[in-house]
Amino acid sequence: MIRFFENYSLKSHNTFRVDAKAKYFFEFTEAEDLDEFLSSNESWKEERLIVLGEGSNVLFLDDFDGLVIHPKVPGITSVYEDRHNEWLEVGAGEVWDEFVQHAVTYQLGGAENLSLIPGMVGAAPVQNIGAYGQEVCTLIEKVKGYDLEKRCLDEYSGNACNFEYRNSIFKNYLKNKFIITSVIFKLDKFPEFNLKYGQLEEKVKEKGAINLHTVRQSVIEIRNSKLPDVKELGSAGSFFKNPIVDDSVTKKLRSQFVGIPVYPGADGKSKLAAGWLIEQCGWKGKREGDVGVHDQQALVIVNYGNASGQEIYDFSEKIKQSVFEKFGVELEREVNCI
Ligand code: EPU
Repeated sequence: MIRFFENYSLKSHNTFRVDAKAKYFFEFTEAEDLDEFLSSNESWKEERLIVLGEGSNVLFLDDFDGLVIHPKVPGITSVYEDRHNEWLEVGAGEVWDEFVQHAVTYQLGGAENLSLIPGMVGAAPVQNIGAYGQEVCTLIEKVKGYDLEKRCLDEYSGNACNFEYRNSIFKNYLKNKFIITSVIFKLDKFPEFNLKYGQLEEKVKEKGAINLHTVRQSVIEIRNSKLPDVKELGSAGSFFKNPIVDDSVTKKLRSQFVGIPVYPGADGKSKLAAGWLIEQCGWKGKREGDVGVHDQQALVIVNYGNASGQEIYDFSEKIKQSVFEKFGVELEREVNCI
């Protein structure tokens, strides 16, 4: 099924609830429909184009003068299994958390720590979503989609996706050139739980048993206590990435700021907690008009009402600036500004 609109409001298609308009909006449920649509009119080659899932990681600064493509490919299908694993192909238009619920219901492990992350399955590989010590790249066997330059269906193995922390080939080399239509995940029939992050283990133990259901439930409770529900309050989860800095920078910061959280990494680099840096600058819970910093998690910027994309962006610039002034650390946006 396809749907096509002109001058279409994107307010219900971005979790910041910014009222931007798209010149053209195209929605499809089958990969083949996309090929037919794009081949039907040569002028699509001239238009600016973006792919939009649930819009849980974008900020529209203005109306979008081009074509928005919204993949709604449905379905969760088992494509292969052996003694230890089962491979599920999931349509790009499935809601991410419903897929996690499905995996947990069928006793398949791997995705449970990623419970309640907003967005659709097609967006998960793009920014390599992650939470509670797990990144989705470890589960991805293959990403299927449509190549806009070659004008054909194509696929990438997990290895070819160049996954990094909140990054992949789809955010760089293939940005707006490849439209993801489905993802094949390899899940475990005998899951090994990863409970090392923060309070997760404690929370799971309170529930008396360690299984997929209790881990999922614990992640949901922790997230609900810290992160706003995008159905109630406009936001896009973490607005900034946790900055990765040289160990020499970390050493200097540690001597100046006692208690600064640091996650040691490889290659002489470590990760800092952007939420902590922002909170130390006094932004947590601060509000200017309809824009503010969430009062439980300083990494999250919130639209309390009718803030425009530009207002949210300007507010984020002020945060960046004050973190730079205090710590000498440059924050990078995780949210995609359009
Ligand atoms: N912290 C503060 N103040 C805050 C927030 C955090 O001091 O307002 C400190 C915490 O005390 C802790 C550290 O910063 O020492 C890390 O905090 P937290 O565990 O809440 O995680 P995070 O680094 O702020 C990341 C992801 C989240 C993910 C959580 C849990 C990024 C950019 N964010 O946040 O992902 O849910 O870890 O794994 O990597 C998202 O990407 O949208 C997202 C929500």
